[in-house]
Amino acid sequence: MDLSKHIECLSKWPTHLSPGLPTIGALLLLATGGLVVACKVWSFLRVILSLFVLPGKPLRSFGPPGSWAVVTGASDGLGKEFALQLAKAKFNVVLVSRTESKLVALGEEITKQYPKVQTKTLAMDFAHNADEDYAALNELVSGLDVSMLINNVGQSHSIPVPFAQTPASEMNNIITINCTGTLRVTQLVVPGMIQRRRGLVLTMGSFGGLLPTPLLATYSGSKAFLQQWSTSLGAELAPHGIDVELVHAYLITSAMSKVRRASASIPTPRAFVRSVLSKIGRRGGSSTYAYSSSPYWSHGLMAWFLTSIMAPMNNFVLSQNKSMHESIRKRALRKAEREAQKKST
Ligand SMILES: NC(=O)c1ccc[n+]([C@@H]2O[C@H](COP(=O)([O-])OP(=O)(O)OC[C@H]3O[C@@H](n4cnc5c(N)ncnc54)[C@H](OP(=O)(O)O)[C@@H]3O)[C@@H](O)[C@H]2O)c1
Repeated sequence: MDLSKHIECLSKWPTHLSPGLPTIGALLLLATGGLVVACKVWSFLRVILSLFVLPGKPLRSFGPPGSWAVVTGASDGLGKEFALQLAKAKFNVVLVSRTESKLVALGEEITKQYPKVQTKTLAMDFAHNADEDYAALNELVSGLDVSMLINNVGQSHSIPVPFAQTPASEMNNIITINCTGTLRVTQLVVPGMIQRRRGLVLTMGSFGGLLPTPLLATYSGSKAFLQQWSTSLGAELAPHGIDVELVHAYLITSAMSKVRRASASIPTPRAFVRSVLSKIGRRGGSSTYAYSSSPYWSHGLMAWFLTSIMAPMNNFVLSQNKSMHESIRKRALRKAEREAQKKST
C-alpha cells in the first residue's frame, strides 16, 4: 500500500473510539518516513561530495620530503602503481614482493623517472611466513622515516571454488598472505609512526570483505578480517596522529582479477590508485565502517547502493553474488578444459 492510501485509510479511523489517534499515527508515520528519506538523501549527497568534489588529505601531511613509503605486493598491479605514484609525489619507496627481478626492474624504472627518489627492495614470499624474512624487512625499515605503509599484498582463489573443494594450500596461502602478512608488516612499521606522531596505514580491502562472497569464501573472510582489524586499528592509532584506511575495491584490471579491458566499473590500476591517493581521509561510498573508503567513483556509488539501499535485501544480494560466481566458475572450468584439449592435440 502506498503512503497516500495508508494516510487516507487512517483518516477513516472511527475517531469516536480514540479521538486524535489517527492524526498522531499519521503524523508519526509521515515523520518517520520523512526522516528515513532525509537520511538517505543526506548520505547520498555526502557520497557525491566525497567522490567528486572534496579533496583528500595532502600526502605531505603524512611525512616530509625524504620520508619513505613501504609498499607490499609492489611489483605488479595496484602495488606497482602505488609505488610509481608515491615516487612521483617524491616519497622514497621500499618495494616488497615475491619476484626479485621484477622488483629490481621497478626500482630502476623509478630511479630513471624520478632521479631524486631512493628505492630499497626486498624479495620475500609472504606465503612462507618466515621469521627471517620479517627480520630482513625490520632491518631494512628500522632506520627509515616510514610515513606510509601500503598493505597491498593479497591473494585470491585461482577461480571461484566451493569452500569444501578449496585446495588446502590455496586456503592457507590466502590467510597467511592477506591476514598474517598484513599484521606482521604493520607491527614492524607502526611503532616508528607512533614515535613520530604521524603516518598512514592504508590496507587494500575488497567488496569481497564488504559483502559475503560465495565461492570465494576464504578470500571474502580474509578481507572481512582485514576490515574489522583495520577499523579497530584506526581507532587505536587516531590519538597518535596516525591515519588508518581500509580501501574497498570492486574489480580493477590486473593479473589477479584476470580482467584486461578497463570500463566505467573496472578501472586500470593507474586510475584506481590515483583516486585512492587523492582522497585519503574521505569515505567515498563507504558508510558502514569507520576508517574505510571507497574512493573510485563507480566503486563508491556501487558500495553506497549495496550497503545503504540494498541492505534490507541481504539475502537477495547474497544469492545474486552466488549466481555470479557460479557462472564465473563454469566459464573458467570450460576454458581450462579447452586449454587442456589444445595441449593434448
Ligand atoms: N584487482 C582487483 O580486481 C582487486 C579487487 C579488490 C581488491 N584487490 C586487492 O588489491 C590488492 C592488489 O591486487 P592486484 O590485483 O594488484 O594483484 P596482482 O596484480 O596479482 O599483484 C599482486 C602483487 O603481489 C605480489 N605477491 C603476490 N603473492 C605474493 C606473495 N606470496 N608474497 C609476496 N608478494 C606477493 C605479486 O608479486 P609477484 O609479481 O612477484 O608475484 C604482485 O606484485 C590485493 O590485496 C587484492 O586483494 C584487487
